Amino acid sequence: MANDAARPLIVGNWKMNGLRADLPAVMAIDAMAGACAGVDVGLALPFTLIPRCAGMVNHAMLGAQNCHARPGGAFTGEVSGTMLADCGAAFVILGHSERRQGQHEDNAVVQGKVRAAIAAGLSVILCVGESAAERATGQAETAVRRQVLASLPADPPSGRALTIAYEPVWAIGTGVTPDAPAIGAMHGVLRETLLSLGYPAALLPRLLYGGSVNAGNAAAILRIAHVDGALVGNASLEPQSFGAILDQAAGAPTFGL
Ligand code: 13P
Repeated sequence: MANDAARPLIVGNWKMNGLRADLPAVMAIDAMAGACAGVDVGLALPFTLIPRCAGMVNHAMLGAQNCHARPGGAFTGEVSGTMLADCGAAFVILGHSERRQGQHEDNAVVQGKVRAAIAAGLSVILCVGESAAERATGQAETAVRRQVLASLPADPPSGRALTIAYEPVWAIGTGVTPDAPAIGAMHGVLRETLLSLGYPAALLPRLLYGGSVNAGNAAAILRIAHVDGALVGNASLEPQSFGAILDQAAGAPTFGL
């Protein structure tokens, strides 16, 4: 763990999934979050479900997957951090590789969004991760360090308001994960990078691993040094598989398969 006070944090990223018909799955996950003492649970929903769930979800933290860098204005189709906080979100995922790649968000864009989200009172899960080419050419650690340094504002958020998720691009949705030493090494790099920014060791942002986390590999991943939790895509859509991951974070088989 990053520090003794850090509880494991397991966050589901539903990406562009979730209709009203899926509200029972949200409620099932919320009930598991309530029964899962010692584990913090987050659910990053599509914008459309957040206001709907805000009045119903009591235990999981609700979050979004993107926001604009400005609090309001003539930005057709965009959603601001202020709006997210207003409709019940507690956090927002920023810098996900699916947005860095698909929406051409570079570190400067992500930095503006981090600043705006913090100003709106949201906490931020900042995603970083190397491409397959960067890994193959030995550039992974340099690339990830650069993403962290360039995506955070000059006056970085407090350790409580920030979480860093290491998600190697090549591990997302592929069923492939880095081996444990590679995850441990990268989380060590993240820790050193955050210490170099002046975060006190006792209040470092939590460090999550993301990329093909599932019920079968979560226990081993969560045991790796400096891994404080997981950011889970596909396996978070089904309460049963997400529950099995929560079990492993809690160290107790309550909900699992
Ligand atoms: P998968 O768990 O589906 O690989 O997705 C990971 C991810 O992108 C979470 O943000």
